[in-house]
Amino acid sequence: MLEEAKLTVGKVAERCGIKVSALHFYEEKGLIRSWRNQGNQRRYKADVLRRVSVIKAAQKMGVSLQEIKDAFATLPNNRTPDTKDWDKLASHWRESLNDRIQYLEKLRDYLSGCIGCGCLSLKKCPIYNKDDELAKFGSGPVILETKRV
Ligand code: FES
Repeated sequence: MLEEAKLTVGKVAERCGIKVSALHFYEEKGLIRSWRNQGNQRRYKADVLRRVSVIKAAQKMGVSLQEIKDAFATLPNNRTPDTKDWDKLASHWRESLNDRIQYLEKLRDYLSGCIGCGCLSLKKCPIYNKDDELAKFGSGPVILETKRV
């Protein structure tokens, strides 16, 4: 394996457009793997570039690192995802992605008038919470997470 692992951490970071610290973090989380050369320096196999690309794309979709790690673990021998694997992973995440899109659209629609406003007007503000009546529905941004609004 070490013979195939020739890329330095700096080269991988440059090729992937991320910081070296991010690579160390991914490795610490078990998302990527490196080997040590005789000088005890990290070396990566070329497929790490694809693996990091999948991680970045999934993160942009809002998928957590744990979800990505769990998905990688479903691949035979924890291999780097190929195109078919990526399709499978993406379809698995599609439902949660649709939920996120719906949430963001709602957030955009409800907050578009409020951004930069701050009036919390009784008459027109969609996020005004009279007498804290939304508290009975739970904690957090209840108004955005329920179908009530
Ligand atoms: S803060 Fe003014 S409309 Fe919501």
